[in-house]
Amino acid sequence: LVNTAQVHALLQRRLLIIAGKGGVGKTTIACALGLLASQLGKRTLIAEVDGIGRAASLLGVRPGGVGEARAVSPGLSVMSVEGSAALAEYLEIIMPVKRVLQVVLSSRIYQYFVAAAPGLKELMTIGKIWYEAERIDEAVGERRWDLIVVDAPATGHSLQYLGMPRAAREVFRAGLVGRESQRLNDLLTDATRTAINLVTTAEEMPVNETLEMYGRIRDDLRMPLGYLFVNRLHESPLEEATLDRLAERLRGLRGEERSLAEETLHRAREEVGWSEINRRYLRQLGKAIGEPIVPVPFLFAEEFGVEQVREIAAVLGSALASVAQPKSKHGKA
Ligand SMILES: Nc1ncnc2c1ncn2[C@@H]1O[C@H](COP(=O)(O)OP(=O)(O)OP(=O)(O)O)[C@@H](O)[C@H]1O
Ligand SMILES: [Mg+2]
Repeated sequence: LVNTAQVHALLQRRLLIIAGKGGVGKTTIACALGLLASQLGKRTLIAEVDGIGRAASLLGVRPGGVGEARAVSPGLSVMSVEGSAALAEYLEIIMPVKRVLQVVLSSRIYQYFVAAAPGLKELMTIGKIWYEAERIDEAVGERRWDLIVVDAPATGHSLQYLGMPRAAREVFRAGLVGRESQRLNDLLTDATRTAINLVTTAEEMPVNETLEMYGRIRDDLRMPLGYLFVNRLHESPLEEATLDRLAERLRGLRGEERSLAEETLHRAREEVGWSEINRRYLRQLGKAIGEPIVPVPFLFAEEFGVEQVREIAAVLGSALASVAQPKSKHGKA
């Protein structure tokens, strides 16, 4: 039985950023978490940063245009966010004359500026996420989204995105850009509104990268950390000794039966191997990291899709109810 009150504690925040090494399952976890939140009654937006619409496909819908929310269900939407599109959208809001806007957007100097200005893309991306987090639905006079789950890019890029508002704040102190950047950084460092959650697999390279990223977020960026999702965990129910005994008995088999049995045994040994590796790195993470760890099992599926995301959402629902809540000691609470 899921203790929804405790699950809600994380989902009370307005912005959950999902970051980590390339390929570890950020998009999968972001989609599952978004689905879970919507099932618990939160109007949820999954914002995929610089993606290719994979979040939408994982949720079983066609990707919408960049910067446009695509509804998955009444309580869940997905959106691709990208810096230069966000800048164009921003200009559209502040520039009332459409003809002038078109001239600006299509001018070569504008395009050159967008491509060349360092950090502009990152800043506008965070700006768009901030805008969606604060957005009021005019028709009902309420916030459009209760929660935004951000499917962030791989480690190095994520750090660039997260660090940009503070950097811009330092460069443009007073003035419009400085003030806006301050607001973005305020959101990112506010532990009542935001949590940065990392995803990793329990293997050497992703774990090393995760430990490094933890340090950067906690000590340099000083942003509030949430959960650490350890994805694709293998848990073999068998042991090496059992497999050895089985191997003995296979000797009696011949022909096709034998090769089938050997192949199966080989796979079982691989599972045992992975389970050991996973256990070792899970222990290492547990020792090195104070934040609560949420284990997510490896799911065997011919095609990884909506069904698997649903399954992981259910796993997260019960896991988040039973693991400790992240403390809000980092960032300004
Ligand atoms: N729990 C799981 N069990 C089995 N396979 C998984 C699991 N989670 C993710 N995968 C698979 O791992 C691969 C990477 O997942 P995903 O696309 O979510 O990673 P990512 O971190 O978003 O990658 P990228 O850095 O490329 O955006 C996918 O093929 C996905 O199907
Ligand atoms: Mg991804």
